Amino acid sequence: MNDHLPPLGCSKTEISTPYLCLDLDHFEANVQSMVAVCRESGIQWRPHAKCHKSPVIAEWLLNAGAGGITCATVREAEVMADAGVSDILIANMIAGSAKVQRLVQVAQQADILICLDNIDQATAISQAMSEAGASVRVLIELEIGLNRVGIAAGPSAIKLGSQVNELPGLQLTGLMAYEGHLLTIEDPAEKESAIRSALGSVVELKKQFEQSGLPCPIVSCGGTGSYPFTVKQPGITEIQAGGAIFMDAFYRHACRITELQYALSVQTTVVSLPTPERAIIDAGHKTMNLSVHRPFAPDHPDLTVDWLSAEHGAIARTPDGPDLEIGQQLELIPGYGDLTNIFHTHFHAFRNGQLEQLIPIVR
Ligand SMILES: Cc1ncc(COP(=O)(O)O)c(C=O)c1O
Repeated sequence: MNDHLPPLGCSKTEISTPYLCLDLDHFEANVQSMVAVCRESGIQWRPHAKCHKSPVIAEWLLNAGAGGITCATVREAEVMADAGVSDILIANMIAGSAKVQRLVQVAQQADILICLDNIDQATAISQAMSEAGASVRVLIELEIGLNRVGIAAGPSAIKLGSQVNELPGLQLTGLMAYEGHLLTIEDPAEKESAIRSALGSVVELKKQFEQSGLPCPIVSCGGTGSYPFTVKQPGITEIQAGGAIFMDAFYRHACRITELQYALSVQTTVVSLPTPERAIIDAGHKTMNLSVHRPFAPDHPDLTVDWLSAEHGAIARTPDGPDLEIGQQLELIPGYGDLTNIFHTHFHAFRNGQLEQLIPIVR
């Protein structure tokens, strides 16, 4: 099959749209910024790989100073372990015998950390690990308001920690929580206080773990939408912020993260101008995603991505908006990079206007 991969050295307009574009200068600046913030705060950066699904990018971040990576699925961990990444947190619940068997396999390839919030899951994984003569590190995941998974940060979490600590094939290593429900609080002081209070309960539990003789060297939390506040919380040992390397409209406009630069874009082409108010581009639901936040055109603030069908995107324009031409390339900053990258096979990585690398996305 001909993948129509463009030659290195070509310019943005020489590539058939739609495609995913990575500005390497901005990407590297974001990576440096995250490494610096974590170093200054004395914590480790364990960037989430769900946003890039790329062993090349994982290695880039590890070489730049990340201390390990986070994955959302066993599949992502397998891809990263196959590429030689060793310290991998799977920040999700793993249940069901088929998936547990895959976990056992990958735990023999890399130094895996998993999250647990219940004894049934712990017992099943312990048994499977023991049968294979393998073991896996464990974080107890806490519910701090996200209303997703996790156990309350109280006596039941200490009980689960004690049980896990006794089970063969499991090495209790600490706590994990995600403050994802607090990302979009508008007022910075209010946001900081809400994050401090939510994560304070995690740090308090760490103290109780230690007083009970339970090991707790790792306290893992934090995302791109909260990291400036999360890194300030004493007792946190690492943050998982991943999408920070790319930046997008959700992080900037909804989470008000201002320190990072837009590194990711979707390159599209205007294919039709049916009315003065509407332009149609060649990028729809199979290229990008509107569900978390709308993409926007950085060079044309008057344009709005109005709606998408599978392979068409409708751009609303105002009478005094820019003149658009059929065939014109239009750059869009993704609404949410994470849910955009999954539609693509490669990052087209540019520097100084030239294609420097094609970075595969492995799904
Ligand atoms: C467990 C977990 N950690 C961290 C994050 C933050 O990821 P990012 O920094 O890419 O937004 C998420 C986002 O969904 C998450 O589910």
